[in-house]
Amino acid sequence: MSNKDAPSESSLEAKTRYYGHKLMECWRRSFEDLENFWSGVAENLSWYKRWDKVLEWNPPFAKWFVGGAINASYNVLDVNLKKGLKNKVAIFWEGEEGATRTLTYYQLWKEVNKFANVLKRLGIKKGDRVSIYLPMVPELPIAMLACARIGAIHSVVFSGFSASALADRINDAEAKLLITADGMYRRGKALSLKGTADEALSQTKTVEKVVLVRRAGIQDVPVTKGRDYWWDELMKEAEPYCEPEPMEATDPLFILYTSGTTGKPKGVVHSTGGYLVWVWATLKWAFNPQPDDIWWCTADIGWITGHSYVTYGPLLHGLTQIMYDGAPDYPAPDRWWEIVERYGVTAFYTAPTAIRMHMKFGEEWARKHDLSTLRILGSVGEPINPEAWKWYHDVIGNKRCPIIDTWWQTETGGFMISPAAGIDLVPLKPGSATFSLPGVQAEVVNEEGEPVKPFERGYLVILAPWPGMMMTLWRDPERYISTYWSKFQPNKKLEFKIQPPAIYYTGDYAMKDDEGYFWLMGRADDVIKVAGHRIGTAELESAFVSHPAVAEAAVVGKPDPVKGEAIVAFLILKLGHQASEDLKKELVMWIRKSIGPVATPDEIYFVQSLPKTRSGKIMRRVLKAVVSGGQLGDVTTLEDASSIEEAKMAVEMLKRAMEERR
Ligand code: PRX
Repeated sequence: MSNKDAPSESSLEAKTRYYGHKLMECWRRSFEDLENFWSGVAENLSWYKRWDKVLEWNPPFAKWFVGGAINASYNVLDVNLKKGLKNKVAIFWEGEEGATRTLTYYQLWKEVNKFANVLKRLGIKKGDRVSIYLPMVPELPIAMLACARIGAIHSVVFSGFSASALADRINDAEAKLLITADGMYRRGKALSLKGTADEALSQTKTVEKVVLVRRAGIQDVPVTKGRDYWWDELMKEAEPYCEPEPMEATDPLFILYTSGTTGKPKGVVHSTGGYLVWVWATLKWAFNPQPDDIWWCTADIGWITGHSYVTYGPLLHGLTQIMYDGAPDYPAPDRWWEIVERYGVTAFYTAPTAIRMHMKFGEEWARKHDLSTLRILGSVGEPINPEAWKWYHDVIGNKRCPIIDTWWQTETGGFMISPAAGIDLVPLKPGSATFSLPGVQAEVVNEEGEPVKPFERGYLVILAPWPGMMMTLWRDPERYISTYWSKFQPNKKLEFKIQPPAIYYTGDYAMKDDEGYFWLMGRADDVIKVAGHRIGTAELESAFVSHPAVAEAAVVGKPDPVKGEAIVAFLILKLGHQASEDLKKELVMWIRKSIGPVATPDEIYFVQSLPKTRSGKIMRRVLKAVVSGGQLGDVTTLEDASSIEEAKMAVEMLKRAMEERR
């Protein structure tokens, strides 16, 4: 990869060797002195009982800090009160419509205690599952931490998901309680959430009670007597203190659903002890948090980034953070920069898709504001292209702030490959996430599971268990094994730092350069990343074929200059149905309703046949090449070669129609 902006080879090499020393030393110790290294890290948290053993490894199942007892809510709240942070602001919250709220650590502690008692009163016990379907209001982290306080397992569902997506997640987790709101604001409009929640509840059997947060001032919210309760009314009567429940380090803290290569979302289960240690350590290593930081992670808590680096990480470090509930460009494209200036944000963490969107608006919007308080910037969710990296670095960071490009996944709990400003900041290269963090043994391998040469693309794998790794998939250990641990078998060409050997498959393409820097290159499986959000093509396809007019569907991602990838669908209609613009519009609405607005398709093509292998598998690779104008590659296994021509023609026709419209 050519890289004009990187320092010259020789100086870079020298710097890497110099700065990388401490990082390498730390990395080495994390494997060679496993017990001591992780004990040292874990001692930064407060435990009721110390662990007996740091790691119990029965591949692919790992138990971290076995025998230890800990509570997440105690660590993020009570501990900070004891450290003298009672009156420090924990959350500066701002709503899109301009409303603001400030919660000190003491106020947050009080709310969490009270809501924990509310949960108990509603019959929630240790181990029960609670689904949470809320916009970015303070009640969202409060509800999560209240669950953690009593040992209930939270399952947060992104508020942009549809009723049926919510119902699927409630049903899989067998949640007893749903916490939602009357509605939410988006671009100045109040949208109903309770209506969607009610629709979901009509498809579920396990939910006994519903708690409703007042957010959008929606009138005439339907309330089912004996089932639905208003948050504020319950809180008025709640007892002020709730003793935290000592949890086993290996008890689940939460389930978070994520998309995979089949239509059914996966319930990723995270542990209490290992996850908290990982989130604490990774935030410290990557961003080097300071007591006077104003931290702002723009991710919604409905995704893993918000779990780890809004709810848990910053509060574990006693930081002050911003929570913003609204669109990044409402009412004007400088909304974010105005917030950065007003609160004096020091550490800012967002996604490449947002950076590219702001690039498109033009740098004058950022230039209108004093962003000089920023000291460090972060990126997550998809590969950051060097142009976006440079813009972020130059325009937002004024060439002063390092860019912490963090590669990780829902399954990994926290950062895995990232620059480590808190250990040793190696020279950065625009577009590279640099090196793996301590405890992470990452490698790039070929189809046979053997390491590839520098600059050769391969699959990113992890060769050792780490504390933040998921424990399993909720009630589906078989899928956990087959999805993540079965693609590659240990072989002699790989060196395993922790025995017995096992290989975790990330589903990502990557390469290493000649200095060992990692370059992430997108998904290698049938998962697409739309504006950083993870969506399974199989999920979309099953939603399409559930429409009465659709016989077959193939969905692929197409490179998009802002969103990273856009959703493109090829559909075969059932006999008796005609292709039309109206049907296209109807199908777009159908998908928004089946999965949610995050999954809105950009392009739909009606075709007579789809490129399939002789065994009947749709060759998405071929369609992907067609939509992006790339090389078709090997098509010898194709059943019907004319299908490629047809897909190409459909794409050409649409392009022409679009040009004519212009
Ligand atoms: O493809 C990688 C991409 O996001 C995937 C994980 O998605 P999700 O579980 O939704 O978590 C997103 C937030 C952690 C990965 O498999 N990804 C994430 N971060 C990066 C990235 N790709 C390139 N560079 C990154 N920094």
